[in-house]
Amino acid sequence: MNLKKTMPAAVGPAVAALRAGGLVAFPTETVYGLGADASNPAAVAKIFAAKGRPADHPLIVHLGGAGQLPQWASVIPPDAWTLAEAFWPGPLTIVLPRRADVPAAVSGGLDTVALRVPAHPLAMRLLAEFGGGVAAPSANRYGRVSPTTAAHVREELAGAVDVILDGGPSAVGIESTIVDLCTPEVRVLRPGTITLRSLKRVLGKRGAVAGGADVRCPGNKASHYAPDARVILTSMDDAAAQAQVWRDRGKRVGVLAPVRPVRLPQGVIWMPFGVSARQQAKSLYASLREADARGIEVLLAVAPPDSGVGQALRDRLRRAAGPRAGAGTVS
Ligand code: TXA
Ligand code: MG
Repeated sequence: MNLKKTMPAAVGPAVAALRAGGLVAFPTETVYGLGADASNPAAVAKIFAAKGRPADHPLIVHLGGAGQLPQWASVIPPDAWTLAEAFWPGPLTIVLPRRADVPAAVSGGLDTVALRVPAHPLAMRLLAEFGGGVAAPSANRYGRVSPTTAAHVREELAGAVDVILDGGPSAVGIESTIVDLCTPEVRVLRPGTITLRSLKRVLGKRGAVAGGADVRCPGNKASHYAPDARVILTSMDDAAAQAQVWRDRGKRVGVLAPVRPVRLPQGVIWMPFGVSARQQAKSLYASLREADARGIEVLLAVAPPDSGVGQALRDRLRRAAGPRAGAGTVS
């Protein structure tokens, strides 16, 4: 009998590493997180060092259950309980006023804190056995593509992490929806697979609004989630002609599209993208990494429709395509 296959991965060493102030990469249903004990400022500082992330960017605190909210938030409006009840464990992050004893390093000096109960079984065991909050951004280097497998984490952060828990490929594939409950209006700070429409359905009359780009939200920076390849958004109709233009300029070109565009020029690599928005979310980051691995210099990505989960995908693709600091001319 293959014990490795039948036994659930042990979280003991990861719990011990968290207690000792170390770093643990762990799977969640969205992307892999780079975690540290959220109540230990020295441990939290290691996250910023490992990622190369500016210290004023706040982190999400991952909890084992909504019952722990009062340990982190100073005010918990009824909407928070409503959303927690409807969507936790799951890919929703709720921003609330923070308690004074939350380490400043966790919330980047803001008076709010972002909280989430993830749905991955391994993450849930880790959080249950650890018992406290785990501060964790996505386990990638700052500005880069979020990891959706343990191998992605190893590629970027191997030397900097004490334990990497392997929970297989992330089921959702893009980061959680972030909602801000600190203002009279419920605002979506980062779109995700929990859509505006599903939030509105649960919140009823109160509703929710999109937008509110916070510069402190790195996921809201113009360039983020970026591979080495230059990413350009296109449509199914334009993909082949645009591919020709970049081929003519001598570039190695890839096209990320649900089906192979007709009349795709010779030598252009078609990278299949899922047909539904949820499938696309699941494979997006692995595809961006694969484009780099295949030496693609220009990746033409067919944008999904601007509704539902498609909005979150367009958001990530736009940022992957965003202007890069110091990138110079890339033509
Ligand atoms: O799905 C996810 O949310 C993943 C997994 C690991 O849980 N985490 C993740 O973390 O995407 P990160 O650090 O890559 O993105 C968290 C986002 C950042 O854009 C950060 O600025 C924002 O959450 N954030 C954290 N605390 C905040 C706060 N108090 N107010 C506004 N935005 C906040
Ligand atoms: Mg991130």
